[in-house]
Amino acid sequence: MLPTSVTVDPAFVVGPVRRRTFGSFVEHLGRSVYTGIHDPEHPSADADGFRGDVLELIRELGISTVRYPGGNFLSGYRWQDGIGPVKERPRRLDLAWHSTEPNLVGVDEFMRWAARAGVEPMMAVNLGTRGIAEALELLEYCNVPGGTEWSERRRANGAEDPYRVTMWCLGNEMDGPWQIGHKTAHEYGRLAAETARAMRMIDPGLELVVCGSSNSAMPTFGAWEHTVLTEAYEHVDHVSAHAYYYESDGDLASFLASAVDMDHFIDAVAATADAVRAAGKHSKRINISFDEWNVWYQQRAESRPPSGDDWPVAPVLLEDRYNVADAVVVGNLLISLLRHTDRVHAASQAQLVNVIAPIMTEPGGRAWKQTIFHPFALTSRYATGDVLRLAIDSPVTETARFGEVAVLDAVATHDPATGEVVLFATNRSVRDDVVLDVDLRGFPGLAVLEALTLSNPDHTWAATADDDTTVVPRPNTTATTADDRVRTELPPVSWTMIRLARA
Ligand code: AHR
Repeated sequence: MLPTSVTVDPAFVVGPVRRRTFGSFVEHLGRSVYTGIHDPEHPSADADGFRGDVLELIRELGISTVRYPGGNFLSGYRWQDGIGPVKERPRRLDLAWHSTEPNLVGVDEFMRWAARAGVEPMMAVNLGTRGIAEALELLEYCNVPGGTEWSERRRANGAEDPYRVTMWCLGNEMDGPWQIGHKTAHEYGRLAAETARAMRMIDPGLELVVCGSSNSAMPTFGAWEHTVLTEAYEHVDHVSAHAYYYESDGDLASFLASAVDMDHFIDAVAATADAVRAAGKHSKRINISFDEWNVWYQQRAESRPPSGDDWPVAPVLLEDRYNVADAVVVGNLLISLLRHTDRVHAASQAQLVNVIAPIMTEPGGRAWKQTIFHPFALTSRYATGDVLRLAIDSPVTETARFGEVAVLDAVATHDPATGEVVLFATNRSVRDDVVLDVDLRGFPGLAVLEALTLSNPDHTWAATADDDTTVVPRPNTTATTADDRVRTELPPVSWTMIRLARA
C-alpha cells in the first residue's frame, strides 16, 4: 500500500470551474452524425430524425458546448450544401474520410439538435478549401437577424431568429500535412487574422479560436503557435490544442501517465502565447481551447478509412471500444484540464457518439455507455465553483515515456455557494494500492458525502451493448473522515471522486 497525501486549502484558487471545459465534438465522420445522433428510422427519432434516447444520454453526460462540423471533414465542406429542402441537397465526396456525405444534416438541423440537447454550438469555418468570403456568409447566415441574402435564406429555412453563435474555430488542424488545404504557419496565420478581422466586422462579440498544433509531437509544435499568434494575436481569443492518447506496445504505465503530456502541452502553449504577448506588447492574454482530446487507438483497423472505389455513407470508423484503463486516463485528463482552468478556457472531448465516443449506438437499435462516459459525467456534474490547486505528496513510478511520474494525481473543486468540496483523484500505479490521506485544513467540519471509485481487477474490461453496467463507479467504502482528515484507499488503475460536505 503506497502512502500518499494531499492538502486542500481554500486559499489555493486556480480559477473558476468553466462549464466550457466539458465540451464535446460532433464531426461528419463515420457514424457520428448518421445512425449516431441522427437516425430517422429509430423509434425514438423526432421530426428531424434525431434520436431521443441518444439525447437523453447526452444530457446525462453533462456536456456544455459541441464543436461542429469537423474536424478534418471541415476542410472540404461546403456549408451551403447542408441548407434548404433535404431532397434537393447534393451528395458529395468527403475526401478526409473517403466517404459520401449525403447532407441530410446541415447547419439548421444541427442548431435545432443543439437546442434540444441544451448545448452551446461551437462552429468551425473551412479555411482549407474555402476562405474569408464563405466564412462571412456562414456567419451572416447564423448571426445576422435579417434583411440580407444569407440571413433571409436562414429565415426562409425556418429559423426566424439568428442562432447567435459566439465560439468559432478558424479552420481545423491547419498544421497537419493530412489536412486538405494544409498551410505553412505564416500562410495560415495571415489567413486566420484576416478572416477573424472580417468576421468581427459583422459581429464584434465573437470568441475566435485560431488553430494551434495537432499534437505536441508535430515537428512544428511551438514554432507554429509562435508564428500564427504573431500574425493573429489581436484578432483572436483562443489558440487550439489537440491531443490523443493510447496504450502503445502494452506500455500501461506510460499510458496511465498520459496527463503528464497534457500538462506539458498546456504549459508550453501558454508560455508561447505569453512570449508573443510580450514581444508584441499586447495587453490581453490568449487562452487555450483544448478542442480535441481523448484516448484514440489510431493504429487499429477501426481507424482505417475506406479506399479505392468504396465511398460509403456513414461507414463504421474510429469506433474504439474503451476499457477501464482508458476511462481512468480520461478521468485524469479531465483533472489536468481543471488544474489549468486559468489558461484552458474551453475544451471538447473528441468525439460524442460512435466515433471515439462515450456513447455508442446500434442503427435503429440500442444506445449504450462506454467506460469513459462515467468519469466525464461525474466530473461535469460535481465540479462546480472554484478549482483548487493541491499540495500533493506521492511516491513516483518509472515510465518509459515520461520518466518518473507521481503515482497519485488529483485536483479539487470548492463551491462557495454550497460549501461542497470535491476531490478527483487517480491512482496511476499498474499494481499498487494507494492509501490517501487528505488534510482538509481550512475546511473544518467536512465529512464524506459520497465516494465513488472506477476500477476493476481486469482493467481491460470494456462495456458492450449487452453489458454497460457491470463495471461502473461504485461506492468506495474505505473513505472515512476524522479530525478534518479523510482517509481512503485507491486500487491500482483507478479513478475516484470524493464529495465532501458539512455533516
Ligand atoms: O477526431 C478525429 C480527427 O482527429 C479529426 O477529424 C481531426 O481534427 C483530428 O486529427
